[in-house]
Amino acid sequence: MERINLLLRSSLYRDYLGKVEEKEKDRVFCKHGFNHSMEVARLCWIFLLENGLTYARDVVYAAALLHDLGRCEEDNATVAAACHALRSARLAEPLLAEAGYSLPERKLITDAIAEHRKGEDEVFTSHLSYFLRRADKYSRLCGDCPAAAACYKKDEMPQRSRLLY
Ligand SMILES: [Fe+2]
Repeated sequence: MERINLLLRSSLYRDYLGKVEEKEKDRVFCKHGFNHSMEVARLCWIFLLENGLTYARDVVYAAALLHDLGRCEEDNATVAAACHALRSARLAEPLLAEAGYSLPERKLITDAIAEHRKGEDEVFTSHLSYFLRRADKYSRLCGDCPAAAACYKKDEMPQRSRLLY
């Protein structure tokens, strides 16, 4: 996990993460900071193991830790038209290079990040893409959420009313 620890120490990564957390400090709905990313990382790792799929753990964690980073640019008019998944993939590329990920690994990870907002029945370029998206949904435990009644996404969350993982 040395590359993950390099990523976590990156000043650029910490800057982006700080911007996401600052933007969402008054948000009543699901947040997209470090704790969410770690929940996604561990769930994605479990799903891959359950399905007998072999990925390096630091590849899986990198995809999860970076998948929502583009939310730091949400209000930037020049990128407002693109969804945060594509922005996250773009921001992830140099961070992954800096942490020592190879070109094929960076392509795998950034494709997974770019695809994490796809629908369940769409085509995914890898199992990592599919299970990253799945982990993102399973990470939300709506039962204790005070904003659940007003949330338009609640019905997409498999653990909205019962704990599975
Ligand atoms: Fe997410």
